[in-house]
Amino acid sequence: MTLPATRTQRLEALVDPGSFREFGSQARHRVTAFGMDRKRPAGDGVVTGTARIDGRPAGVFAQDPSALGGSLGEVHAAKITAVLDHAARARVPVIGLLDSGGARIQEGVAALDGYGSIFFRNVALSGRVPQLSVVLGACAGGAVYSPALTDIVIMQRGTAHMFVTGPKVVRAVTFEDVTLEELGGSRIHASASGVAHLVADDADHALDLARAVLGYLPTSCWDEAPLAPPVDPEPMPRWGPDGTVGVPADHRMPYDVRGIVRGVVDEGSFLELQEQFAGNIVTGFARVEGRPVGVVANQPQVLAGCLDINASEKGARFVRLCDAFGLPLLVLVDVPGFLPGLGQEAGGIIRKGAKLLYAFAEATVPRMTVVLRKAFGGAYIVMNSKSLGADRVYSWPGAELAVMGAEGAIDVIFRRDLEADPSRRAELLQRYRDEAMAPHLPAERLSVDEVVAPDETRDVVVETLAGLERALEPRFRHDNLPQ
Ligand code: HXC
Repeated sequence: MTLPATRTQRLEALVDPGSFREFGSQARHRVTAFGMDRKRPAGDGVVTGTARIDGRPAGVFAQDPSALGGSLGEVHAAKITAVLDHAARARVPVIGLLDSGGARIQEGVAALDGYGSIFFRNVALSGRVPQLSVVLGACAGGAVYSPALTDIVIMQRGTAHMFVTGPKVVRAVTFEDVTLEELGGSRIHASASGVAHLVADDADHALDLARAVLGYLPTSCWDEAPLAPPVDPEPMPRWGPDGTVGVPADHRMPYDVRGIVRGVVDEGSFLELQEQFAGNIVTGFARVEGRPVGVVANQPQVLAGCLDINASEKGARFVRLCDAFGLPLLVLVDVPGFLPGLGQEAGGIIRKGAKLLYAFAEATVPRMTVVLRKAFGGAYIVMNSKSLGADRVYSWPGAELAVMGAEGAIDVIFRRDLEADPSRRAELLQRYRDEAMAPHLPAERLSVDEVVAPDETRDVVVETLAGLERALEPRFRHDNLPQ
């Protein structure tokens, strides 16, 4: 009996034509309990091997739901750990196509230990070689924890489901009636849980996305990221009748920061991750003059761009991913502060906001920041400020940097003056703006290196990154701990 061709075909569709070399195709379990001796598919429900993707080597595996539900027993696990061990030795990425009911129930603890041995290697490889999980079908239990340990999770819309416990168990324990899609479909994981970095329309699209992600990442942390031909950026956005370049002249007007990202990076190179999760911070890969970079930007059109718990965790993991794999960080700042409120404080914004702070401070790749419009308080510091070790911080003309916005600030420092004469509000607001928020003030004390015009920004980014090229020396920096 041979494995149905479909999973092998999927792997072959992922990799360069003719490059897939399978190993373990004849492996079978030796379990006899529960009549398992009559169900011994060759390969034990997973296709494993090595291949090349865009000319670069990789380890690959694909689970087969038509063989024992893609469930993971001892032999199935041993095949996957062989791919991971190969990746560790050859220093190459691992891409898994997942479709598994989790630990094979009939194999008991041997199946659980199989997962343990995979998790152990996922962690040992973290930050050393890129690990990608492409979830194509229903994945339960251990089949979702391995993806969560990897760098990028891609889910196929409609067919991929991920949950620790399935609808039947949920019904029995909590009496909630939920469908597979409600419990673990791509919508919930793209928007609410943040588990999925990318959602694909179909299997081919999922494989395209996996190849696209690999195109930004080095083969390992000891290699340089792949270069592409340089491309000019899109034009910077223009606003209002006078065509103000960059951000809207009205500082309270929301706008989509992705327009600014596209005005700086190579046209067509921006690949946003976790687009619908914590939309108040934008994260994604891009290229500048063909060289991969990681972009982190506050998004004024969602929660006014405030940092909150989800944004902090999303940003932190992305910053650590980029740092681990030697991608310079380009940070675009327009942030009014941390989101205030009981929910945020009780939810641990102190502990979780610290993750983003930690990630930036820890990063040793070239780091540059452009303050587009405002940067206030703790959020100013967190967003890759000079004092956190950024190599360069630029600001656009008119950007406001301060401990807090003018409205809140004057209520504190001019409380008595305002109580005595409320009509002085406008005058005091202006005084605060002039004396505490003007961009030349942080430039005077080197918190901002230079004030640059929106139209100059691309050139400044290109020159700054070129000047820091030698700081990119490939090496192991740290792992990519799940956040
Ligand atoms: C053994 C399994 C299996 C499993 C599925 N199968 N999951 N066999 N162990 N974990 C078998 C089924 O018996 C069936 O066999 C075949 O695979 C297809 O399964 P279906 O249920 O018919 O498929 P589908 O309707 O598509 O549903 C897929 C599914 C469901 C949602 C994944 O199978 C399911 O809920 N499975 C159990 C999931 C689960 O609770 N796993 C957790 C294990 S514990 P036949 O012979 O009828 O074709 C775990 C612990 C790890 O993983 C801990 C990590 C921290």
